Amino acid sequence: MKARFVLICAALALLAVGCCKQQTAENIIKTPVPARPAGQTDVLGLTAEPIETVRIGVVGLGMRGSEAVRRLVHIPGAEITALCDLLPDRVEANQAQMKELGKGEVTGKYSGTQESWRGLCEQADVDLVYICTDWLNHYPIAMYAMECGKHVAIEVPAALDLDQIWGLINQSEKTRRHCMMLENCCYDFFEMTTLEMAQRGLFGEVIHVEGAYCHNLDPYWDEYWNNWRLDYNQKHRGDVYPTHGIGPVCQVLNIHRGDRMTALVSMDTKSFNGAKIAANHTGMEVREFANGDQTSTLIRTEKGKTMLIEHDVMTPRPYSRMYQVVGTDGYAAKYPVGQYCLRVEKPADKVDARHISDEKVYSGAEMEALQADYRNAILTPEFEALAKSVGGHGGMDFIMDYRLVYCLHHGLPLDMDVYDLAEWCCVAPLSCISLEHGSMPVEVPDFTRGAWNRVDGFHYALAKEDK
Ligand SMILES: NC(=O)c1ccc[n+]([C@@H]2O[C@H](COP(=O)([O-])OP(=O)(O)OC[C@H]3O[C@@H](n4cnc5c(N)ncnc54)[C@H](O)[C@@H]3O)[C@@H](O)[C@H]2O)c1
Repeated sequence: MKARFVLICAALALLAVGCCKQQTAENIIKTPVPARPAGQTDVLGLTAEPIETVRIGVVGLGMRGSEAVRRLVHIPGAEITALCDLLPDRVEANQAQMKELGKGEVTGKYSGTQESWRGLCEQADVDLVYICTDWLNHYPIAMYAMECGKHVAIEVPAALDLDQIWGLINQSEKTRRHCMMLENCCYDFFEMTTLEMAQRGLFGEVIHVEGAYCHNLDPYWDEYWNNWRLDYNQKHRGDVYPTHGIGPVCQVLNIHRGDRMTALVSMDTKSFNGAKIAANHTGMEVREFANGDQTSTLIRTEKGKTMLIEHDVMTPRPYSRMYQVVGTDGYAAKYPVGQYCLRVEKPADKVDARHISDEKVYSGAEMEALQADYRNAILTPEFEALAKSVGGHGGMDFIMDYRLVYCLHHGLPLDMDVYDLAEWCCVAPLSCISLEHGSMPVEVPDFTRGAWNRVDGFHYALAKEDK
């Protein structure tokens, strides 16, 4: 009788587990994961032949591309050999900029048509195609550049939808060329130091992170070529610019290096300011504006961690990338005020029940002293000074370019691979799916197609002589 009761209970329990699983499956939206083409392998830890001098072709010479040209001129071991923009005067202005900085004529100049960049991709003395166009042009240029045997570095966001994301992954895996997104915010000083702290265990186990792109773009909307940015926001719902917020915190969580994002849900406000801004900009009545003024996305990981990612380019809130790291024993926040907070261990007889909390907050000079003990291995004081003198968002852009050229020169894996690109960009299309389905959870695909747990933690590759 007792044995029968146990059997019935076990059967009921199994049934309950089965129902749960089925329910979970029904309540999450899945997108197709294309099978890896036969003969193709992943590009985790991809290395390529070392390049003595990295010859760079820059495509898209607007605000960001012109700045990239200025910075790249200062990178040891790099040479700009080709320039391309739809507009011929931008190519000439950048050639003039290079001359002012002591450089000569580039070998190739391309302009005048929508696909002038094909010539740059085919140019023999180009090793790396560095793409700074509007978002819609990133994908075709990157795909063709890899087809031509070039490595590619693509401004953010590199890809706009899941087809583009899988397309770039497959192209990088097929051609064995690097395909890196230029996510500069991974190289800001606070983020790099905090990453070092997390890796050395200062916060205990990191369980939750936050990142954002809150930047009132009012002063910039008129500056973009052909109104591409406002136009894109007008037509697309979701967090269309997630990478600055999510990139640095994914590195802290070792995403596809021991953990992976599994599901997300998003909510947005309706568009309060967007349509007004578009109407002011175009001088015409605007009835529909797809992008909400504020979009929030929650993501869960395989190891039970959570992430909050926000997007707001429409309201006058102060600039913020949030960057918050919550651990079992500590906390870091960059915005609105930089600070760290660590658990204080007290002997049992010293515990005062009237105190709500017993953690130590580090801000101002104390924060700087703490940071000095956790200087990121690749940020020597001399290198930091050089980065700050060349600049680019305070120096982080220079560090990013420097690391890219350094790794290509030494034939090392890059800091950010095509799977980072995929994970950071996928928030845009997946958040849109969630929003369009009443904030339902959406599965985040495993873009490595099975290898997310093979690499043990995020690391910067270093040449033997620098270890
Ligand atoms: N990482 C960052 O901090 C950061 C900052 C600003 C912009 N960005 C990114 O940089 C990219 C460029 O932004 P921007 O502010 O310079 O925009 P922009 O409008 O100033 O420049 C875009 C340039 O692309 C050119 N272009 C358009 N179509 C082209 C084509 N078919 N072939 C060649 N050139 C073409 C335009 O003529 C223009 O010069 C975007 O992806 C943006 O998101 C990144």
